[in-house]
Amino acid sequence: MTRASAPEPGSAADVVRSWDARADHYLELFRDELEGKPHDLALFAGFARRLGPGARALDVGCGPCGHVAAVLAAHGLEVTGIDLSPRCIALARRERPGLRFELGDQRALDLDPLGGRFDGIVSNYSLHDQPKSLLPGTFAAWASALKPGGHLLVVAKAGDADGVVTDPLGSGIDVYWAEFTAAELASAAEAAGFTVERLADRAPYEQEIASQRLYLEASMPGESGLDAARRTP
Ligand SMILES: C[S@@+](CC[C@H](N)C(=O)[O-])C[C@H]1O[C@@H](n2cnc3c(N)ncnc32)[C@H](O)[C@@H]1O
Repeated sequence: MTRASAPEPGSAADVVRSWDARADHYLELFRDELEGKPHDLALFAGFARRLGPGARALDVGCGPCGHVAAVLAAHGLEVTGIDLSPRCIALARRERPGLRFELGDQRALDLDPLGGRFDGIVSNYSLHDQPKSLLPGTFAAWASALKPGGHLLVVAKAGDADGVVTDPLGSGIDVYWAEFTAAELASAAEAAGFTVERLADRAPYEQEIASQRLYLEASMPGESGLDAARRTP
């Protein structure tokens, strides 16, 4: 009898393996976590205000909670969440009925079924499951998925990890785990054609894993249709 071999650590298939296995556990831990993160809630609200009501936003690596998509939708955006893990998508649909969640790879976005390019992309900790070397390609994929003048908000954990670890959240399985510096995020963004507008960090909240949080806000060149429509004649 032959056994299917384990996927290459950090590959797309490995993201599916590891997140299908821990999605339910993650949901139990983090379903309501944004309520305890005023800094992040304010940032998502500011991002939504900047895009304006009705703008199309993509929540990449939306996970099983669908909470970032829900916050953005509550601020008036038309949001789609995508994730590589079918279990994450099934749980997000169950948790947030009425919002749109689809299977998809943030590094190989199939835009037609998603309705074309977006006004904004948010990545809330979606970069950690794949090797650091894939960072430039991920930002390039995001750049291609945005309209001219489109906005990007990335939230990530700071550090230099890049390899297989036992899940720090206690699911018991081995997972790929990469961390980043602010300079790595900024240079990948700039190489993909973004203008970096803000790079910030904050210390972890008491309830969080003890690593510094990074925030990158960037935009693509050009004037968005929404900006043009808001200009007074
Ligand atoms: C730490 S979780 C964050 C989930 C969610 N953004 C949140 O704030 O709770 C990382 C998520 O990114 C997803 N992910 C990782 N790499 C991905 C990729 N290449 N394309 C789509 N989703 C990806 C994982 O499946 C997982 O659901």
